[in-house]
Amino acid sequence: MNIIDIIAQKRDGNALSTEQINWFIEQYTNGSITDYQASALLMAIYIRGMSRNEIIDLTQAMADSGDQLSLHDVADYIVDKHSSGGVGDKTSLVVLPLVAACGVPVGKMSGRGLGSSGGTLDKMESISGWSGELSLQQFRTQLREIGIVLASQSADFAPADGKLYALRDVTATVSSIPLIAASIMSKKLAAGADGIVLDVKVGSGAFMKTLEEARELAEIMVTLGKDAGREAIAILSDMNQPLGHAVGNALEVREAIATLRDHEPPADFWEHCLLIAAHMLYLAGKADTLDKCRDLVRSARDKGKAFSKFRAMVEAQGGDIAQVDHPERLPQAVMEEPVYAPRSGYVAAIDTEAIGWAGVHLGAGRLTKSDRIDHAVGLVMPAKIGMQFAEGDVICTIFANDTEKLDKAHGAVLGAVSWSDTPVTALPNNYGTVP
Ligand code: URA
Repeated sequence: MNIIDIIAQKRDGNALSTEQINWFIEQYTNGSITDYQASALLMAIYIRGMSRNEIIDLTQAMADSGDQLSLHDVADYIVDKHSSGGVGDKTSLVVLPLVAACGVPVGKMSGRGLGSSGGTLDKMESISGWSGELSLQQFRTQLREIGIVLASQSADFAPADGKLYALRDVTATVSSIPLIAASIMSKKLAAGADGIVLDVKVGSGAFMKTLEEARELAEIMVTLGKDAGREAIAILSDMNQPLGHAVGNALEVREAIATLRDHEPPADFWEHCLLIAAHMLYLAGKADTLDKCRDLVRSARDKGKAFSKFRAMVEAQGGDIAQVDHPERLPQAVMEEPVYAPRSGYVAAIDTEAIGWAGVHLGAGRLTKSDRIDHAVGLVMPAKIGMQFAEGDVICTIFANDTEKLDKAHGAVLGAVSWSDTPVTALPNNYGTVP
């Protein structure tokens, strides 16, 4: 077999065989295929797409590229979640403690930012000393002892995804249904989840811009899970505006802590966390209806049990607990500047990807693989579609450490918001589930 023939076959719109896909993943993972040839194949897949059989083969080959984890010695049923990526998406920081506080152990492997969308590990690293670099032994011990782990994606699991994910980020091949489906599901299958809640984002800040695309991605991922003998459900959630208010690492950690402590969290964010956590409990068999699972989640938060779980996880992973108890001690930007509504009216639309990129350019994300994250910077944007503002009202606050970047972000926020003279209907949190 040779890589040039495989690239040409996909370039010409022909399906790849199981053997070809297995060979490509094996050879790329062991370093025998160069990044430039893998990039060419990724672009061909991006443009030509893949059949269902090819996606199944790609997912399985990627899942088989490293170790397979089994956690059944720790818990009878392993439940996991994964988001397809969004702006202000700090859901894992809240959902994991909620689920763990209800007595269902959760050990999640998370990634870093991808394009304009943030990453859970980058957010958690705002807390001094916190580390997601855990050995498998530490992962198991912590899961058994405190029931909650948030770790970095281990190089031992689906290593093909680790390499391809980084390559896609810098070759404009992220937003491809087959590539996202195989990336997410290969990791979930390798990490041994019995039940998987997939948070498939749709809208201007998501990789899937239309409901049709998001549904297709969700259906493929649910099928991949079921074919592998796992239970899977996908929630089609709105990403036409940032989730919650905060975009940027320490700012998002602060919002997550406020949500866990019930300090008036943004309603859309709390509703979303409640829904995802309830579905995870339902899959794990914690109650026989989704409503009962929601009640369990609410009670875990209201009794402070979820916040205690978050605290325990931070402590176990070396983080500074004082920053959790006093979030004002998290990294703070030097400059804070409000963005005022340029006119009176209703917010008609938000280019959420532009808001995500504004955060990245402030330093909250990476423009090149080697960029260092500035955990303090970002935006807090309470403006939501349908809200009415008078000219001069604050629609957003920018947190920056550099004047030039601050000015750029200011312009980007103003350009991202469209206005209407007439009332605009607020958006739903989600568009239902698959199946
Ligand atoms: N999240 C992933 O893990 N992979 C993708 O390709 C997109 C989002």
